[in-house]
Amino acid sequence: MRRSEIVPANRFRRNAWDRCEIGRKTISAPWLAQCAAAENRLSYMGECHMKDHAGRSTSIWMATAKLPRFSKLLTNEQADVCIVGAGIAGLTTAYLLGRAGKSVIVLDDGPIVSGETERTTAHLVTALDNQYSDLERMHGEKGAQLAAESHAAAISQIEAIVRDEQIDCDFERLYGYLFVPDGESTDILDKEMSAAQRAGLTDVHMVARAPITSFDTGRTLCFPRQAQFHPLKYLAGLAEAIIRDGGRIYTQTHAAKIEGGKSARIETLDGQTVTAGAVVVATNTPVNDLLAIHTKQAAYRTFVIGATVPAGSVSKGLYWDTTEPFHYVRLSRSSSTANDVLIVGGEDHKTGQADDAEARYVRLEGWARAHFPMMTDIEFRWSGQVLATVDGLAFIGRNPMDEPNVYIATGDSGNGMTHGTIAGILLTDLIQGKDNAWSTLYDPSRKTLSALSAFAKENLNVAAQYADWATPGDVEEDVLVPPGSGAVVRRGLKKIAVYCDDAGQLHECSAVCPHLGGIVAWNHSEKTWDCPCHGSRFDKSGKVLNGPAISNLSPVEIP
Ligand SMILES: Cc1cc2nc3c(=O)[nH]c(=O)nc-3n(C[C@H](O)[C@H](O)[C@H](O)COP(=O)(O)OP(=O)(O)OC[C@H]3O[C@@H](n4cnc5c(N)ncnc54)[C@H](O)[C@@H]3O)c2cc1C
Ligand code: FES
Repeated sequence: MRRSEIVPANRFRRNAWDRCEIGRKTISAPWLAQCAAAENRLSYMGECHMKDHAGRSTSIWMATAKLPRFSKLLTNEQADVCIVGAGIAGLTTAYLLGRAGKSVIVLDDGPIVSGETERTTAHLVTALDNQYSDLERMHGEKGAQLAAESHAAAISQIEAIVRDEQIDCDFERLYGYLFVPDGESTDILDKEMSAAQRAGLTDVHMVARAPITSFDTGRTLCFPRQAQFHPLKYLAGLAEAIIRDGGRIYTQTHAAKIEGGKSARIETLDGQTVTAGAVVVATNTPVNDLLAIHTKQAAYRTFVIGATVPAGSVSKGLYWDTTEPFHYVRLSRSSSTANDVLIVGGEDHKTGQADDAEARYVRLEGWARAHFPMMTDIEFRWSGQVLATVDGLAFIGRNPMDEPNVYIATGDSGNGMTHGTIAGILLTDLIQGKDNAWSTLYDPSRKTLSALSAFAKENLNVAAQYADWATPGDVEEDVLVPPGSGAVVRRGLKKIAVYCDDAGQLHECSAVCPHLGGIVAWNHSEKTWDCPCHGSRFDKSGKVLNGPAISNLSPVEIP
C-alpha cells in the first residue's frame, strides 16, 4: 500500500448449523430458532448467477472460512435503512443500526463479503497508512487526534462485538512495528513518534529493534494495542447477528439505481424496488456518485503472498517498513499446528496502469525470503484494490450534492477494516440524528486545501488515461488474442475488449468504461478488465465487479 497517498429450503437447518461452527464458539437454541424463522431469507445458493468474486486469486481467508449465503431479493420491500454492499462497512453499519432498533435491508450483487474485504490482510491499526505527521499537516492537530481516536474506537468496537457475539475469529491484540529499510535514516520515525503522541497515542515509543530474529530492523517505532483477526469468520458472525436482530440480507441482487428523497428508492437489476427512510452506499467506491468523490481518491492494486514458516519462528506482531510502496507483514494460523502462515503484502500500482503481476509477486517473494529466510512454501498469492484519498482519510457521511438521506462510506486509504467500522459507528449516529465528533473529519464534502497538489496530480493522471482513445489496440486483430487471455482491439474509431476463452472462443464487448468513458485494460493475473481512470473493474465477459461503474461493459453493436 501507499503511505502518501440455490438449494431447497429444507436444507437450511443443517447448513445454518455448519455455519454456526465456523463463525461462533457456542450456539444457543434460541438463536437457531431465530435462524429457522428467517428460513425464507437465508439459504445456501447452488450457483451464482451474478458475480462471484472480485478476481480470480484466492486469499487465505477465502480458503479457510465459509460464509452464510442468502437468497436474492424477489419482491419489493421496505425498511428504515437500505444498505447497498455487504463488506465490512455495510455489514457493520447494518449490525449497529439493527442493535439501535432500526429495520435494515442489505443488498449485495455477489455473495456477502465478496468484495475487497475477502482480500484484505486485516491489520487493525491506529498506525495508519498515512503517517500522523502528514495527517496533522492536512487536518491539523485536532484532526489527527480525532483520526487516532476513531481508529482506536473502531478496534475496540470490533473487540466488543467479538466478545458480545462470541465470534471465534482469531481476534487478538498485539504490537505494531514501523521500521526503515536497512541503512536509511530513522529521523522519519522520530518525527512520526512525536506526531503520533501529539495525536493522543501517548504510548507509542521507540524500541532498539522489532522482535524479529531473522534480521535487525534497527530502531523501530512501536505502536501498542493494535490487533488482527480472521475477517471472514468475523463477518460470518456479524451477518448471523444481523439476521437474529431482524435484518434482511439479499445477495445476487445488483442495485442498478439509487435515489434519495422523502422515501429513498433502490431499484435492482431484476426489477424489484426497496424503499427506505435512508440509504447507505457501502460499495467500497460509491456507485451512485459520478464525479465528486472520484476526483478525490485513486484506486491501487496491491499484492500479497502467504508463506509457510515454522510455528513460533516469527514473533506475532504487525510489521511495516517505510518504502514506497511499503511492505506489510503479519502471521496467521496454518492448517498444520507445526506451521504459521507469514502474510506479506506490497508492490502496489495504480489500477489499470500496469499488468505485470507476476513480476510483482516475484519481487515480493524475494523481499520476504531475504528478511524471513525460514519461509518455505508459498501457499497463497492474491491481489486486491485499495482506494487512496488525497488527504489520507476515508469519506463517510452524506453523499455530496445529493438528497440528505443518502450516505456513503468509501476511501479506505489502506485502513478499510477500521474505516469500515468507523462508518458503522458514524453512520448509525447520523441516521439517528445524533451528533458525532468525527463527522466533520470524515465529511465526504470536505476540501482539504493542503492536499491540493495531490488532488491536481491524481486528476492529471486520470486525464492522461483518456489518451488511450487515440492509441492502437494491444493487438491488431481478434485472432491474435491468446486463449485464456484478453486484449483491446481497435476497430475503426471503436475500441473493443476481446476475451479468448480456453477453448479459443472469442467474447467481445465495448472497451469503454460506462462510468466516464475510460478505456479498460486487461489484467492477466485476475482475468478482469480494469479501468485506469477511477478503478472500475469488469469480469472477462464485461460484467461489472467494482464501481464506480454501476453497469456492465456494453455489448458490441453488430453493424
Ligand atoms: C490486499 C489488501 C490488503 C489490505 N489490508 C488491509 C489491512 O491490513 N487493514 C485494513 O484496515 N484494511 C486493509 N485493506 C483495505 C480493506 O480490506 C478494504 O478497504 C475493506 O475491506 C473495504 O470494505 P468495504 O466494505 O468498503 O468494501 P467491499 O468489501 O468491497 O464491499 C463492497 C460490497 O459492495 C458490493 N457491491 C458493489 N456494487 C454493488 C451494486 N451495484 N449492487 C449491490 N452490491 C454491490 C460488492 O459485491 C461488495 O461485496 C486491504 C485491502 C487489500 C485489497
Ligand atoms: S472508472 Fe471512471 S471512467 Fe472508468
